Amino acid sequence: MRRVYLDHSATTPVATEVLEAMLPFLKEDFGNPNSLHAWGRRTRKAIEEARILVAELISADPSEIVFTGGGSESNNLAIKGMAFAMMDKGKHIITSAVEHHAVLEVCEWLEKKLGFEITYLPVDQYGSVNPEDLRRALRDDTILVSIMFGNNEVGTLQPIEEIGKICRERGVALHVDGVQAVGHIPVNVKELSIDMLTISAHKMYGPKGVGALYIRKGLKPTPLIHGGGQERGLRSGTENVAGIVGLGAAASLAKRRIENKDEERVKKLRDKLIDGILDRIPETILTGHRYNRLPFHASFCFKYIEGESLILRLDAVGIGASTGSACSSAKLEPSHVLLAMGIPHEVAHGSLRLTLGKDNTEEDIDYVIENLEKMVSELRRISPYGKKDV
Ligand SMILES: Cc1ncc(COP(=O)(O)O)c(C=O)c1O
Repeated sequence: MRRVYLDHSATTPVATEVLEAMLPFLKEDFGNPNSLHAWGRRTRKAIEEARILVAELISADPSEIVFTGGGSESNNLAIKGMAFAMMDKGKHIITSAVEHHAVLEVCEWLEKKLGFEITYLPVDQYGSVNPEDLRRALRDDTILVSIMFGNNEVGTLQPIEEIGKICRERGVALHVDGVQAVGHIPVNVKELSIDMLTISAHKMYGPKGVGALYIRKGLKPTPLIHGGGQERGLRSGTENVAGIVGLGAAASLAKRRIENKDEERVKKLRDKLIDGILDRIPETILTGHRYNRLPFHASFCFKYIEGESLILRLDAVGIGASTGSACSSAKLEPSHVLLAMGIPHEVAHGSLRLTLGKDNTEEDIDYVIENLEKMVSELRRISPYGKKDV
């Protein structure tokens, strides 16, 4: 059976180059990077080289990169860290209604436990924040704005440059969850006036459980993990050397792919997938913006069916897909992102996310369109929603 993996927003395979870079640090190069001897010096050097590679990918200074245990931890460090550091100055945070749970749950926790006030900016039908809404929401006691770069469920890219300008003008720190975007599109933290940027290795052909937070020089979030003072005191704990080296290798690979415009090939395949599905399957909505979206991302709602039954049928023919974010697929509630975009509950239940990767081919796309067309029409025939003729 053909196997087509189209769930790269959930996670990507580890690239061969990345694995090869990591292996010595799981075998002979095992030293603790905090030790002064030769073993320790080797792993320290590897960490600092990885820091340079990650910094280069986003045009930051290596001293502005803190390694963490992944995207969720970076989001927590950015938001809670700034909240703890700034709560004497103000307790107002602005975010959007379509953020990942690793931002929304942090904000809700701060609201409930520490009395912060959170403004959730609305989005339009494409999932886009209006910078003018941000301008109006900013207050004298606003200490942080947190807006994601590319949406994990619908792929829409937010107007980060404009958002960055507004935050700079008002002197409010901007955190950007870049988990889905970094490594796939050019991101320059200086040009975009980003103060903190979340990066996760496993969304860009690196290993799971490792990430980074870019923190602009001068900003001082309070650490969440105290101990031996590693990572300039911002993230204690003996470093995950192999993981960090893997993130560095993934960053270097991503930089090369972006410079070579390799993502254009993926984008063409994505467009073929979107056009094929919209042409051949009636009563289908493309969710998110048609063009202003992550290059590898396609997402839909098929009216009159349940996304989950589609996922199971696709899985049975070797196709890996998801309904929305991997983490929320266990909950059978419609996605908060789709609802915020004004998509009705019953339509939101028929969501499907197909996210491509560097190894997908034209044949993969043909196979998916062909199967999907058949499955959607079969499911509609037996649908309890009563629409049997589309
Ligand atoms: C936008 C976004 N932010 C944060 C995360 C969490 O990243 P991690 O899995 O590295 O904790 C994800 C993962 O799906 C994501 O898509």
